[in-house]
Amino acid sequence: MNRDKKIIFAPSLLSGNFADVIGSVKLIEESKADWIHLDVMDGVFVPNITFGHKMVHDINKITELPLDVHLMTVHPENHIKEFIDAGANYITFHIETAVHSHRIIQQIKESGCKAGVSIVPGTPVSALTELLPFLDLILIMSVNPGFGGQSLIIKTLDKIKFLDDLRTKNGYNYLISIDGGVNRNNAEKIIEKGTDILISGSSFFNSDNPAAEADLIRGNKEV
Ligand code: DX5
Ligand code: ZN
Repeated sequence: MNRDKKIIFAPSLLSGNFADVIGSVKLIEESKADWIHLDVMDGVFVPNITFGHKMVHDINKITELPLDVHLMTVHPENHIKEFIDAGANYITFHIETAVHSHRIIQQIKESGCKAGVSIVPGTPVSALTELLPFLDLILIMSVNPGFGGQSLIIKTLDKIKFLDDLRTKNGYNYLISIDGGVNRNNAEKIIEKGTDILISGSSFFNSDNPAAEADLIRGNKEV
């Protein structure tokens, strides 16, 4: 493990104030976050409904931060173009929703966007084996997707170490992202496993001082 590597910190708008998106984006920027994580939920693949490409488009107008779109929708292939046009920098879809996953990765990358795939806690890493050489990002769900504020499932962290070792061994280029239940108490352990990206929704937005909370989650490395 490289202890000095830069961790990408990506607050999730899901726990922000949807009636004050500008204010929520401002809080993210003030925390010196690296990316904004945008959770798109369709009420079918996951029980919750959030927002679509127009939200991504409008957020792209008010920030320079890279937009990390996490698609939790069935038929992700039907939505790729609209999210690329909206200004997404990374588009991650769920392996559980895709038959032609390799084609979707191609579809995303052809437009210059970075392609990610996510797995829910019940899906083994082996489901991604054939895709590993083509991926820019792997998002490991450490809670069952759909809602913020859940507790991290510790067992899912084994997937980080496994993917980190595999990356070193084979020279793969994907970033490893962890999403769900990340907070100041478990972040160090997650970083030790080899993650590149920490996503934080409720621990960030529910704090009285999100910028200070962000420093605690990142281990004050940037301070
Ligand atoms: C959950 C989403 C997460 C969520 C994380 O389905 O994918 O990005 O916002 O929220 P917390 O950090 O509260 O678990
Ligand atoms: Zn997410």
